[in-house]
Amino acid sequence: MNQINRLLKRAALLAVAFGSLQVHGQSPVKITVAANQPGARISPHMWGIFFEDINFAADGGLYAELVKNRSFEFPMPMMGWKQTRLDGADASLLVVNRSNADGNNPRYATVTLNNDKGRFVLTNEGFRGVGVEKDHAYNFSIMAHAVSGDVNISAEVVDEKGSPVGHTEPVKVAGDWKTYQVKFACSQTVDKGKLNVVFTGKGSIDIDMVSLFPEDTWKHRPGGLRADLAQKLADLHPGFMRFPGGCIVEGRELLNRYQWKKTIGNVAERQLIMNRWNVEFSYRNAPDYFQSFGLGFFEYFQLCEDIGASPLPILNCGMACQFNSAEVASVNQIDPYIQDALDLIEFANGATTTKWGALRAKLGHPQPFNLKMIGVGNEQWGEQYVERYKLFAAALKKAHPEVKLVTSSGPDPDGDRFNYLTQTMRTEKAGFIDEHYYRPPEWFLKNASRYDNYERGDTKIFAGEYACHIPDASQKDTRPESHNTIWAAVCEAALMTGLERNADVVQMASYAPLFARTDAWQWRPDLIWFDNLHSVATPNYYVQQLFATNRGTAVLPTHTDGKSLAGQDSIYSSATLDADNHRLIIKLVNASASVKTVSVNVLGNTTGKKAEWIQLSGTDKLAFNSIDHPDVIKPSSRTIAWTRDNNLKLDGVSVNVIVVPL
Ligand code: AHR
Repeated sequence: MNQINRLLKRAALLAVAFGSLQVHGQSPVKITVAANQPGARISPHMWGIFFEDINFAADGGLYAELVKNRSFEFPMPMMGWKQTRLDGADASLLVVNRSNADGNNPRYATVTLNNDKGRFVLTNEGFRGVGVEKDHAYNFSIMAHAVSGDVNISAEVVDEKGSPVGHTEPVKVAGDWKTYQVKFACSQTVDKGKLNVVFTGKGSIDIDMVSLFPEDTWKHRPGGLRADLAQKLADLHPGFMRFPGGCIVEGRELLNRYQWKKTIGNVAERQLIMNRWNVEFSYRNAPDYFQSFGLGFFEYFQLCEDIGASPLPILNCGMACQFNSAEVASVNQIDPYIQDALDLIEFANGATTTKWGALRAKLGHPQPFNLKMIGVGNEQWGEQYVERYKLFAAALKKAHPEVKLVTSSGPDPDGDRFNYLTQTMRTEKAGFIDEHYYRPPEWFLKNASRYDNYERGDTKIFAGEYACHIPDASQKDTRPESHNTIWAAVCEAALMTGLERNADVVQMASYAPLFARTDAWQWRPDLIWFDNLHSVATPNYYVQQLFATNRGTAVLPTHTDGKSLAGQDSIYSSATLDADNHRLIIKLVNASASVKTVSVNVLGNTTGKKAEWIQLSGTDKLAFNSIDHPDVIKPSSRTIAWTRDNNLKLDGVSVNVIVVPL
């Protein structure tokens, strides 16, 4: 009897050992994709982008202006400028403030040349240098007004040693204020050059709006956007674009909140304010960070149209950042804020016979911009937010029931503040609740199933800001791009399979922030890094791109042994049917360091096809792309035979997209 018991016990132990062997890698994870049971529709807006002027994303970034403090409106009016008198020049410069006459651009400079000798040079340092490219054309412009005598202006770009690489001929300033514009080419590529504005002659002139733009802007629009950066956005094929933020919407205090009406029309009339990221982090101070609004709401709408993204403006709701001043507009003075939102809808969608629709037409866009959603506040929380949101909702829903409202759930994806707002906003029948998660890898993996059992109702989820943050301690490289590791990208992809599986609940998602200058960032990780001349797509960028370009139109059930698959043996998956392009798309994420075999069984007829297998992976979890090594991590693609049952060996730390033509 004892012998029999011993044998049974040994058999049981072997079974347990065998079982655990199976779970831990010997036998493949089995996934069944029910290609014959399309479920929830996937919104065309599912994968989008989040733009905020943080990390010099607008001024010094996407907005292609190369001159910093071009109209002397920084609080220190000569910040970024230096004066030099050469070859006996006797000259002076005076900054004049005419605040009573022109509230938006009150300052200009008077240059006086007292003798007819030498050159007076006003040098602009640009945004951490002026970057120009060999054989490219640049447009220099300046507003000037002749006061007395004869003064000539010319411009030159000089390299790091001060040698000119491109220049204009001198132009004599005559008469009243007007804009002088000259195009010139540069003979060398220079990363950290400078712009010299050179004055000769004898007399006095007033100058303002000193500007230098590459001719090759995005879509060749004068005074437009940096082409390589805009192209990177277009290549993401975003379903929507959220703008202008982020905390920038709120301002540290109400005075510095984002006001869209002050960002349209003549750029010289757009009032400069301090960028809140100028002073936000003492360890990343940026004293020269201001918002010129050269990239304003008209340009945002235009960019959305260019790249096929549905516009999603987020507006201030009468509350400044609650982490900073927590200043609020009193509820009985909230009307101007609500009116701004109503006017914005008219500006975007209204007939050209309406006040704001007519302005849109005057600015060059008679067709509507097709605005369908508006965010009320950014990361607001508490009863004061609900109180203000209700006033916005009452007015906006009455006037524009066709526009969906996006509400905040606060800065965290859980906790009391989050729960209170989530419940309240569902009761209020908000269109979308905006959830933010900047969290470590474990959180992303765990939350890949977050929405599997989420409340399903009319109010949908907008994962409006997220990024996997790997604690600093794990980073050995000092380059700022080093926080955008393949490991972070894989964790984000794991979560995104969960968003996609639950596309009936989560209808929009955007990584944040979008852009960062390598030499002037405040927040990382970010999706796209850039310097004066280059930009680099991060592994996280490629994940966003893979999901957006392989979205599909309907969710397909995926399961293993009848159970939903999120994290079993470190494998995360989702599958979609792309009815528009007749494709079956399967996404498989391996969040372990080792190769995993996954057996994919497809219900429905996909046998006998060839499939495309796109893979993003890295043998080193901490691998990343940098400006100097931009192609360390990038997707690769191959063709495989596709049958009803497919055994796929997934590399460790990898994101895999299998596209099967139907
Ligand atoms: O994306 C950076 C910041 O993170 C955003 O401005 C804010 O909304 C969030 O706290």
